[in-house]
Amino acid sequence: MRSQQHQDRVAVVGYGYWGSKHVRVLSSMPGVAVTVVDANPDRLAEAAAHHPMATLATCLDDVLDDIDAVIVATPPGAHAAVARQALEAAKHVLVEKPLTTSVWDAELLVEAAARRRVHLMVGHTFEYNAAVWKLRELVRSGALGRVLYVDTARLSLGRYQSDVNVIWDLAPHDISIVSYILDEMPSSTAVWAHCNISSQHADVAYLRLDFERAKVPAYVHVSWLTPNKTRQVTVVGERKMAVYDDLSDNERIRVYDIGVDVDAIDDPTAAHALPVSYRTGDITSPYIAFKEPLLVQDEHFLDCIRTGARPDTPGERGLEIVRVLEATNELQGAARDLAGALHDPSGLAPEAGRPVLGMRRRLPNPPQIAS
Ligand SMILES: NC(=O)c1ccc[n+]([C@@H]2O[C@H](COP(=O)([O-])OP(=O)(O)OC[C@H]3O[C@@H](n4cnc5c(N)ncnc54)[C@H](O)[C@@H]3O)[C@@H](O)[C@H]2O)c1
Repeated sequence: MRSQQHQDRVAVVGYGYWGSKHVRVLSSMPGVAVTVVDANPDRLAEAAAHHPMATLATCLDDVLDDIDAVIVATPPGAHAAVARQALEAAKHVLVEKPLTTSVWDAELLVEAAARRRVHLMVGHTFEYNAAVWKLRELVRSGALGRVLYVDTARLSLGRYQSDVNVIWDLAPHDISIVSYILDEMPSSTAVWAHCNISSQHADVAYLRLDFERAKVPAYVHVSWLTPNKTRQVTVVGERKMAVYDDLSDNERIRVYDIGVDVDAIDDPTAAHALPVSYRTGDITSPYIAFKEPLLVQDEHFLDCIRTGARPDTPGERGLEIVRVLEATNELQGAARDLAGALHDPSGLAPEAGRPVLGMRRRLPNPPQIAS
């Protein structure tokens, strides 16, 4: 039985843009003692100014004996090493998306968590977002009719990351959202990506994800180099269409009762009736009781620690998504070689900045998501 004074001691490693939000939500939760770990003393000074009650450290090693759990909010390249250190010390771990930057590392983390009998959870925040729950309900209830395709756009100017490309930075959200609402992992993917500014990392990319069981393609557009900020998921159904706009305060989901008379198009005798007629009806916005998704996610992590329940987004879920991301790396490499062969008679791979062509790859054994 826990005493009234019991506190769960959670260290957040990385007090940057996103880690500072974790520290804010954890600090608002009763029964949680927060430690902030950041290698940069300036970041720790900032943390001290906003959270005078928090314990501070420049290195996880220094505080490992005094904590129960770790949230990893460093840049993605450091996720695996920090998470592994915490898991091997038998601490529960929540890792920000993407879980790791390779399938190999993700598998090691899943294995370490199982061996040490602790929770490994991944921060796919949108799976804790009430608007995404509503979108999933609309798809699953059949309210939109058969889903024809999904389109997502996650665009803005920046924030350029130093250790991953735009696909690894932003597409984990879209792969997570689309596979969550369709209840299926993609069976194949194709990618078109381009390095406009840095020669190292693509900053604009388009993915196509194919969902075999649902027979639905999803088109994912991610960009760090677009003038207007956009965060949208559009689900086009045969009967209705739904748009989830994450930037809207009070109309996150809009359902459009509009469409095209598909039967008329497919009927050969009606071919001369083109242009087809369109159905137009109401645009409605369902009420959504919205709570900050990061707070919902971190509360769930604490609940799992307290009750032993399995997280809704366990390490295996992070691994599934890293598999898709890693396939896009291989495709970009293959596409670059192909571009070299097309542009350069010598067949050498082209220098950075040349167009990268799209390639399609089947994903191995698409695992199903446990609901
Ligand atoms: N779930 C979401 O919606 C969401 C949104 C934004 C970012 N993220 C994720 O959060 C993570 C952090 O992103 P960010 O934009 O806050 O990065 P950031 O660069 O702003 O901050 C990273 C911080 O980590 C510190 N750091 C780096 N390596 C360290 C180490 N080994 N030990 C201790 N401190 C270390 C740096 O000093 C820095 O303060 C990334 O994985 C990113 O993908 C998730």
